[in-house]
Amino acid sequence: MEYFIDSASIEEIKEADSLGVLDGVTTNPSLIAKSGRPFNEVAKEICRWVKGPVSLEVIGTTATEMLREAKELRKYGDNVVVKIPMMSEGLKAVKILAAEGIPTNVTLIFQPVQALLAAKAGATYVSPFIGRIDDLGQDGLAMVADIIQIFGQYSFKTKVLAASIRHPIHVLECAKMGVDVVTLPVKIVHQLTRHPLTDSGLKTFLDDWKKVKA
Ligand code: E4P
Repeated sequence: MEYFIDSASIEEIKEADSLGVLDGVTTNPSLIAKSGRPFNEVAKEICRWVKGPVSLEVIGTTATEMLREAKELRKYGDNVVVKIPMMSEGLKAVKILAAEGIPTNVTLIFQPVQALLAAKAGATYVSPFIGRIDDLGQDGLAMVADIIQIFGQYSFKTKVLAASIRHPIHVLECAKMGVDVVTLPVKIVHQLTRHPLTDSGLKTFLDDWKKVKA
């Protein structure tokens, strides 16, 4: 399973890299706004720093606008994946970009048939949002399991990029299902390193070490 970092903060991206978990980056307009910096600056910096795929999202809502933006976004680097919202106009853009060999990430997937359509249009990645489904009192992981099953049955090359990850159990269940990529806030990466028995075990080792004669 690959680990992408879901962030527009270069500090967080560097932090994840120092922990050995930086296969790529996903951003979205909300994360860019949270960075408090101009999009151009942020995109340039991330694409210069990250070797793996970097998803940058279009803002347009027609295929024509999305295709125009895709060309601009790809100027930031060959590793740019054009992130496109799940909608009919988005699928039109994905189909054209796929024919041109430009990678896409279809975002805001909330049901398996949306993922199926995106894959059929030629998306490189589909991004089902697990946490936001859970927030509705529904089962985000079940949606991902359905997508994995469908893609396996029809041998789609499209990768499943699990998004809106809120806690380590989401990561565990994605790994068990064979999800291709999880995109994580760096906070979750730190949570994945922890266990109370690891902390208490280390404390015991260090306390006992003090008793060892020099
Ligand atoms: C993925 O590409 C999205 O940027 C992200 O995972 C959304 O997560 P959220 O639901 O925590 O905003």
